[in-house]
Amino acid sequence: MNAPIIKLDGLKLALHSRAGKVDILRGIDLEIAQGQSVAVLGPSGSGKTSLLMVIAGLERATGGRVNVCAENLTQLDEDALALLRGEKIGIVFQSFHLVPTMTALENVALPLEFQGRRDAFERAASLLEDVGLQNRLQHFPAELSGGEQQRVAIARALSTRPQLILADEPTGNLDGETGRQIIDLLFAMHQRTNTTLLLVTHDEQLAQRCQRTVRMADGHVLSDELAGAA
Ligand SMILES: Nc1ncnc2c1ncn2[C@@H]1O[C@H](COP(=O)(O)OP(=O)(O)O)[C@@H](O)[C@H]1O
Ligand SMILES: [Mg+2]
Repeated sequence: MNAPIIKLDGLKLALHSRAGKVDILRGIDLEIAQGQSVAVLGPSGSGKTSLLMVIAGLERATGGRVNVCAENLTQLDEDALALLRGEKIGIVFQSFHLVPTMTALENVALPLEFQGRRDAFERAASLLEDVGLQNRLQHFPAELSGGEQQRVAIARALSTRPQLILADEPTGNLDGETGRQIIDLLFAMHQRTNTTLLLVTHDEQLAQRCQRTVRMADGHVLSDELAGAA
């Protein structure tokens, strides 16, 4: 097996709400090899989004160990976490966070410009073409539909060829055809460049396309199976 790109040992996440302490992740052990595709399934509220947030360094674990891309996340400060995300992790979450004053093309080119790449705009245009938005390059987010904005966000997440893609129900508000295109794009990237894909989904059929299926319930891992090992 390749070296793990994600290694969680006894990961816990508790948040304090007005009603008191809420245990959201209750001790998760999980090891994912570089290049693997893993579907995360589970009922609403089981902790899937929270798990991805911790792995992305957007939420701090309150217990256990979190190793991602060879870094111990508990030891990194906010700047180092942001740098890690920018260089190695592609995040496809449900809220897109596009920059409203930038066109679709500029939004996708931004992370590439940060990396000092001269072909930032060419590559951004090519990625927008991959997600079917070749006719929307100069549109601002407010001029795009929700589904189109999401596709811009996906193009941006893939732009830097991240080692790890974290996708939280990426086809949640896309229609059938566009949703399929996006999924095909994620899997093509995974296969072509050995990108690790961690994909939260409700869709059993989509989960079948992954090499491994992790089922969560109530902040725990309920089962963890390799494809074809039913
Ligand atoms: N900021 C928060 N404060 C308190 N509880 C939260 C917070 N965010 C999520 N939760 C709770 O954590 C649990 C897991 O949420 P989440 O990770 O979003 O689950 P899923 O993505 O599987 O639907 C839910 O019970 C949710 O209500
Ligand atoms: Mg969720």
